[in-house]
Amino acid sequence: MPSYSQHPIMPSASASTSSSPLSRLRNITDHMASPVASTSFPAEAVPQAPEDALFGLMRAYRADESKDKVDLGIGAYRDDNAKPWVLPVVKKADEILRNDPDLNHEYLPIAGLNSLTSKASELILGASSPALAEKRTTSVQTISGTGAVHLAGLFLARFYKVDGANRTVYLSNPTWANHNQIFTNVGLPIATYPYFDKATRGLDFAGMKAALAAAPDRSIILLHACAHNPTGVDPTPDQWREIADLMRAKRHFPFFDCAYQGFASGDLDRDASAIRLFVDRGFELVVAQSFAKNFGLYGERAGCLHFVSSPSAGAAEVTARVASQLAILQRSEISNPPLYGARIASAVLNDEALFAEWRDNLRTMSGRIIDMRRALRSRLEALGTPGQWNHITDQIGMFSFTGLSEAQVARLREEFHVYMTKNGRISMAGLNTRNVEYFAKAVDKVVREVQ
Ligand SMILES: Cc1ncc(COP(=O)(O)O)c(C=O)c1O
Repeated sequence: MPSYSQHPIMPSASASTSSSPLSRLRNITDHMASPVASTSFPAEAVPQAPEDALFGLMRAYRADESKDKVDLGIGAYRDDNAKPWVLPVVKKADEILRNDPDLNHEYLPIAGLNSLTSKASELILGASSPALAEKRTTSVQTISGTGAVHLAGLFLARFYKVDGANRTVYLSNPTWANHNQIFTNVGLPIATYPYFDKATRGLDFAGMKAALAAAPDRSIILLHACAHNPTGVDPTPDQWREIADLMRAKRHFPFFDCAYQGFASGDLDRDASAIRLFVDRGFELVVAQSFAKNFGLYGERAGCLHFVSSPSAGAAEVTARVASQLAILQRSEISNPPLYGARIASAVLNDEALFAEWRDNLRTMSGRIIDMRRALRSRLEALGTPGQWNHITDQIGMFSFTGLSEAQVARLREEFHVYMTKNGRISMAGLNTRNVEYFAKAVDKVVREVQ
């Protein structure tokens, strides 16, 4: 704190009497310059918030000096050396961009880079989707998947008000933790539907259907398009059809969150099939699309929000109105989206050769994760670790819900320097040929010794 008692332009106190005009002036300026004694943000108004669990875990992992430490927390791809992987196709696109003499850093339009959003909608809906041909889709580039979920949430909070519509958002239990915060922030009430069956470590399909049937008509239902986070459990194609039937009967509004297209199965079309089924069935819906995982563009924050309206004579007009309001919301929140990641993704999506190479890169990532699932399961089974381990290979995508208890997770961290979320979720991408054996042995020991 600077001291204000020795005012540089004022004579010192000894040079004037306490009642002199100079002294009084000095008292006033001292008073005006002194630090404010109280805050407008006392702890009752702004309590200390807990650190984000996942980012806290990352920090603890970094601080751990053990050479054996294993990071199974964060949902980011790692190669077999446990290092972040810049996709070779991304490196190429980056090179092309940097050598472009016309490149500049101007603002994007409010809705983002058109060459990205148009290809991104084809990627998710299928290039031959009737929704595209009939111009009943509108797309906005967002701050990755999080920004897309937020923008759609904000839009629904403002405009999902038709008679009888229930503004509650139903989230799977469990779900990506940020869903709760995002929808609460925009003022939408949240509720949950059962999803994970602890006994089978698979889908609680009966529970999910019962909850969707019991929810008030026209509720907003958040669905993970593929590679459910955190469980790695997805409905089968037949189950998706049943879910669509039920949602149609209840007139629920589908809100798809798609953070892992192509990353889950290695097949972009297969990972988008649930969304395409709902579009084919004529639902009006939104899709939040992230390019963080499938392009490895985590920190570049590239993503899109797509709105699809139902087929009808007025569909194009509905879509245009929605687009106009999304633009206003976007303008007030971020003005316009960031360039770099969007340019990279757009370069790949708009070039046949780069696109083919991207598919290869996706297969590399998903293939390595599938290999690690097999390796972990076979090692646990070879060790005779108590319990069933088939769910490790039945589950899909980045994460596996291991079924380990909180106490077991804590012991893995204390004794083996293994970092994972308290709910027993592991990021499969953190396993590699060097540490999978170590991890399996650690799990074996902990499962035998801790409940
Ligand atoms: C289900 C789900 N939705 C959305 C996101 C958003 O990710 P990002 O904002 O990095 O695209 C994630 C990331 O982990 C996720 O798992």
